[in-house]
Amino acid sequence: MDDRTAALRRAHELAQGFLDGLNDRPVWPRAAYGDMLAALDTPLPENPTPAEDVVGELAEQVDDGLVAIPGGRFFGFVNGATHPAALAADWLTSTWDQNAGLASMSPAAAAAETVAGRWLLELLGLPAGSSVGFVTGGMMANFSCLASARHSVLAAAGWDVAEHGLAGAPPVRVVVGEHRHDTIDRAARLLGLGSRSLLTVPADGQGRIRPDALAETLDGGSGPTIVCLQAGEVHTGDFDPFTETIPIARRHDAWVHVDGAFGLWAAASPATRHLLAGVADADSWATDAHKTLNVPYDSGLAIVRDKADVQAVFGVRADYLIAAVEDPLERTPEFSRRARGFPILAVLRSLGRSGVEELVARLCARATQMAEGIAPILGAEVLNDVVFTQVLTAFGDDDTTRAVGQRLLADGTAVFTPSVWAGRAVQRCSVSSWATTREDVEKTLTAVRRAVSA
Ligand SMILES: Cc1ncc(COP(=O)(O)O)c(C=O)c1O
Repeated sequence: MDDRTAALRRAHELAQGFLDGLNDRPVWPRAAYGDMLAALDTPLPENPTPAEDVVGELAEQVDDGLVAIPGGRFFGFVNGATHPAALAADWLTSTWDQNAGLASMSPAAAAAETVAGRWLLELLGLPAGSSVGFVTGGMMANFSCLASARHSVLAAAGWDVAEHGLAGAPPVRVVVGEHRHDTIDRAARLLGLGSRSLLTVPADGQGRIRPDALAETLDGGSGPTIVCLQAGEVHTGDFDPFTETIPIARRHDAWVHVDGAFGLWAAASPATRHLLAGVADADSWATDAHKTLNVPYDSGLAIVRDKADVQAVFGVRADYLIAAVEDPLERTPEFSRRARGFPILAVLRSLGRSGVEELVARLCARATQMAEGIAPILGAEVLNDVVFTQVLTAFGDDDTTRAVGQRLLADGTAVFTPSVWAGRAVQRCSVSSWATTREDVEKTLTAVRRAVSA
């Protein structure tokens, strides 16, 4: 057997073993970063080792430091698991090793993105014909969309930022909700807009931007303006009121961007679609496929209504490139990159429209089951209206809440992650894995009860 065949066989066995064992391993890793460093940090090897042995050793060394994210009981941060069709297609994506930047370099990868992009717009209820850029994640989706926004609002003020840069440009106001995700601030910084350009609008108890306060903020100034709204707040899972806020932004000729890293998927289910009423009237939308759609990292989507605004930012004409119509590299910050369209196309084909609808509805149902199970536990509180996939919990005073979270991690049955909400220590639970069953939620509730009573 040649080295490659032997290595791939071993990798397949190891992958199967990892997946088969997901239900039985502790969800939180047994080893910390320092332990992993001790295991991996050897001098750079002087000589070659057969690929099969390398793969085997690597899997053995890192096993204790892996988090059971693809299983059914990881509820930390907002992390999707990996659907079987997406995982299998992702293996092939690595094997095919396509460079998805140019249609001429990989006609297959480019066509997969075109079709997946069209299907995604349909599922998400966004305008047909919008530009869909396949980027690494929500961060780069926000960045890419806001790059188009920056171009567009400055162009409307008579300033070509592509040609002149930002020095001497009219100041841009970036209006954000109190509970926007940190990646919005980071994107504004990377785009040279500066954190001082951010005007923060107060939110309500569920973290939704307040329309009256948005109007007041916008009335307080003028000039090129970008309004950033949010579909899915990481603590409460709630949605900004788009039917009220987008018309307010429009009265000020603002560009409207929506960060819907996980929340934009609410559009796929009739039970939650109302939360996104009016969202299609925005100019750009950022979302992740590696969250609610359950494809492997890295997979974000930068969606912009007007392709010309994307072309103005990412368009290139280097002589050595073989230009085709609508090359993927003209929709994203990267040139060479992974063919992210294949796993997305695969999971959409595997699930179909009804399967995605069912997936989203199931995640919401499991979140509701979790909230209904936690609320009656003595000393426990569910702090949010569970409208989507997030459950926000506290277990008494801050020390107790933190201790319950720590015990839950040590117990190994399930993972919630800590945060602070309204000045109070909380434990966040995000139901984002296709693999989470009713039984997983039951087991988690038993573990939470154990952690509380301890
Ligand atoms: C609302 C929101 N925006 C942006 C992000 C960043 O996404 P990513 O980690 O994929 O870059 C997240 C991640 O949880 C998020 O919840």
